[in-house]
Amino acid sequence: MPQFFLPKDSKVNPHGRVHKAAGAHHSRTFRIYRFDPESPESPRIDTFELDAKAAGPMVLDALIQIKATIDSTLTFRRSCREGICGSCAMNLNGMNRLACTTATEDLRGDIRIYPLPHMPVVKDLVPDLTQFYAQYALVGPWLRTSTPAPPDRERLQSKEEQERIDRPAACILCACCSTACPSYWWNAERFLGPAALLAAYRWIVDSRDEASGERLDQLEDPFRLYRCHTIMNCTDVCPKDLNPAKAIVEIKKLLVTRRL
Ligand code: SF4
Ligand code: SF4
Ligand code: FES
Repeated sequence: MPQFFLPKDSKVNPHGRVHKAAGAHHSRTFRIYRFDPESPESPRIDTFELDAKAAGPMVLDALIQIKATIDSTLTFRRSCREGICGSCAMNLNGMNRLACTTATEDLRGDIRIYPLPHMPVVKDLVPDLTQFYAQYALVGPWLRTSTPAPPDRERLQSKEEQERIDRPAACILCACCSTACPSYWWNAERFLGPAALLAAYRWIVDSRDEASGERLDQLEDPFRLYRCHTIMNCTDVCPKDLNPAKAIVEIKKLLVTRRL
């Protein structure tokens, strides 16, 4: 009978360090994943009690407060604080969300904070998104044309043509969708995932782009596109209310209709 051993890092110690709040009136408990791949320690869950009202309304405010006043080694990404840059995506009480647009009062009980799931961890709440960005680059997320642009004006679009790309172009590349997708968890090296496929769709339906055929050729592959089984997790978690699952279905329809 073969025996399998999980790597040491796969076991999370639920009893990490505990930081009690002294005399806080609106104390909330944050249970936060900690891991430093350069340390011999296994991952652990640290507990922080905090006067969440004093910190500010959002989970990101609490993280900033913890880093500023309790443990400066806590590591997480953030930039815009407005749901625009996508960098503060993390798993909050079991769901991928943006820490800067999620209010602590909307989360019940202890607030459990983990990095985006199924990604290598750089440190604490920071996932390694190298592959995610490589997949985005692979779909060629820029205008491709073979005819020269008019000499005296831009390449114009009608209002309807612009509306077709308006929503898909609002993606902030936060990776909430791809890292919530079971197909992506199991086939991340070959399935492009909902974020990259939404980007592909955005350029395929852009009336100014002249490489739609090549873009579709690139996606006609059992893994890159067809590993999506329309489970819809991606659409459920998107913090910008986008619909990558629908975009994937539309790409599949375009592949079928061009064969007719
Ligand atoms: S709809 Fe497709 S891409 Fe979205 S979560 Fe499901 S399998 Fe993944
Ligand atoms: S589709 Fe939504 S969840 Fe996915 S990367 Fe874009 S903004 Fe984030
Ligand atoms: S900090 Fe930019 S989206 Fe949250």
